[in-house]
Amino acid sequence: MNDDGLLVAHELNKDFGGHRAVDGLSFSLARGAIGGLIGPNGAGKTTLFNCLAGHLKPSSGTVTLDGQPIGGASPSRIFSAGLARTFQIPRPFPQMSVIENVMVAPTGQLGETFWANWLRPRAVAAQERRTRDAARHWLDFVGLSALQDQPARVLSGGQRKLLELARVMVAEPKLVLLDEPGAGVNPALLDQIVDKVGVLNRQGVTFLIIEHNMDLVMTLCNPVMVMAQGKLLVSGDAASVLRDPRVVEAYLGDVDDAGDVDGSGSARPVGGASGTGGTPGAQGTAVPA
Ligand SMILES: Nc1ncnc2c1ncn2[C@@H]1O[C@H](COP(=O)(O)OP(=O)(O)OP(=O)(O)O)[C@@H](O)[C@H]1O
Ligand SMILES: [Mg+2]
Repeated sequence: MNDDGLLVAHELNKDFGGHRAVDGLSFSLARGAIGGLIGPNGAGKTTLFNCLAGHLKPSSGTVTLDGQPIGGASPSRIFSAGLARTFQIPRPFPQMSVIENVMVAPTGQLGETFWANWLRPRAVAAQERRTRDAARHWLDFVGLSALQDQPARVLSGGQRKLLELARVMVAEPKLVLLDEPGAGVNPALLDQIVDKVGVLNRQGVTFLIIEHNMDLVMTLCNPVMVMAQGKLLVSGDAASVLRDPRVVEAYLGDVDDAGDVDGSGSARPVGGASGTGGTPGAQGTAVPA
């Protein structure tokens, strides 16, 4: 196993009753990589993210971030350690403004404690100013500045994905897990998301991205890990992984079982990809350990 990885999982399992949704998963994601995580519906991808980010406790196995054990820790502790994640279905606070939604992200703000407002009002105000400045910066970065005072309910699906990206970036994470950033996003906004992830990666942020849109995977992700039935099936560069007969079979099995992939056909490993001409992310390795 590559123990120098920023994120290292070893023999990770997650059971739901008798069903093993994550099954003996071991991998190492290199610092600076944009890893992809693909696989048919129900493969266990989101469950893996939940285990990594602390929203579910793994049944067994270990996870380290930058050498520190994080497996089984709370979401806020893992977030503070530098791992942020976005959700498959973003649910911003609909009545709160866009900028307020971005400002709720950081943990451990002084203003969160009742007494701090009385005892250290200036420190609280200064920190709120810093958080607001950071929120403005990240909203500008994702192109949502013009909407910052609108209630979040006015945002489209794609804009909600961008809001989530701004929200997690306020905390300046080392590693960002994106759960289907391309789902339900129109092509123009999708290009914007791809572009922003590339910019952040060049600034040193490591990503692991669950995605069914193979154009996005081909453009951004290297390495690509494929999950099927809870297991890590294969890992490598996008083009070779998508050609792998085991991967094709896993997806075809999904089509047979489900009758349809997801309506758009976007869950196919082949055919949706536009070629191999994309720029891969920083060369990283996610090696089955
Ligand atoms: N909280 C839960 N309780 C019980 N079973 C669950 C729970 N969450 C997920 N599962 C099951 O675990 C398996 C993996 O689900 P998961 O959502 O991780 O798949 P996925 O790879 O993210 O799929 P998709 O591509 O459709 O988002 C599925 O069989 C699912 O029904
Ligand atoms: Mg999922």
